[in-house]
Amino acid sequence: MDTIRESVRARYAETATRLSQSGRCCDADCCGGSDAVSGPIGEEAYSQTEVADLGLSLGASLGCGNPTMLAQLHPGEVVLDLGSGAGLDVLLSARRVSPGGHAYGVDMTDEMLALANENKARAAVANATFLKGTIEAIPLPPASVDVVISNCVINLAADKAAVLREAFRVLKPGGRLAVSDMVEIEPLPMEVKSALDAWAGCVAGTIPVEAYRAAVLEAGFADIEVEVTHTFGPGEAGLPAGSGKIASAYIRAAKP
Ligand SMILES: C[S@@+](CC[C@H](N)C(=O)[O-])C[C@H]1O[C@@H](n2cnc3c(N)ncnc32)[C@H](O)[C@@H]1O
Repeated sequence: MDTIRESVRARYAETATRLSQSGRCCDADCCGGSDAVSGPIGEEAYSQTEVADLGLSLGASLGCGNPTMLAQLHPGEVVLDLGSGAGLDVLLSARRVSPGGHAYGVDMTDEMLALANENKARAAVANATFLKGTIEAIPLPPASVDVVISNCVINLAADKAAVLREAFRVLKPGGRLAVSDMVEIEPLPMEVKSALDAWAGCVAGTIPVEAYRAAVLEAGFADIEVEVTHTFGPGEAGLPAGSGKIASAYIRAAKP
């Protein structure tokens, strides 16, 4: 488990350094990689105007959808983004919960946290905070958050049940979970499932839709909805030739 986490951390440290130097991430090493259908998966889910208003570009997204769209954020709410990367979803959320609300991002990679803080300064957003920590042990108190979002990160965790339990713990009763993630659609071969590179590229750590739904339910959530948005086959989204299929998906749920 520690080997997986360390390899994910090293990959995203390198990606953050590349992003801060050139403004773009990707060879075949981010979620989606260079051979995804339209650049990094999910760019099309964002409003270019909203991103440009923050003084940022879509290069700041390493996600596979836009969870801020799913979540219906309201002024005054507290939002937490699991695995906040360069900070785009946190900064967009901070704008939406203003006035009175706050957006937190948690990430384990120092280089990503530094980049997120640079982006926060560029966007001149005051109500956002980036915390160092793991999503398996979130550094926030119980029942302190209205909405947990996450974009293409939970698949990277070896212990997905621990992540979902933590999301449940920090949410207030009635709080919402809005996740964009990669899921497995057709089984991937063993050599792909066991490759650390494929894990860090959001391929090997994917689990089937029904297993995802069961893990969310097991953590205590209700009203679970899973919507598969785009399926990728061999040769796409970092999948080697001759492998199975993965997909981007939206997962919504609520804490009773
Ligand atoms: C694919 S990027 C997605 C970043 C961001 N959510 C986005 O959409 O642009 C994955 C991010 O999650 C972070 N991450 C991965 N596993 C993590 C874990 N177990 N705990 C904390 N952060 C993690 C990485 O450091 C990286 O910044």
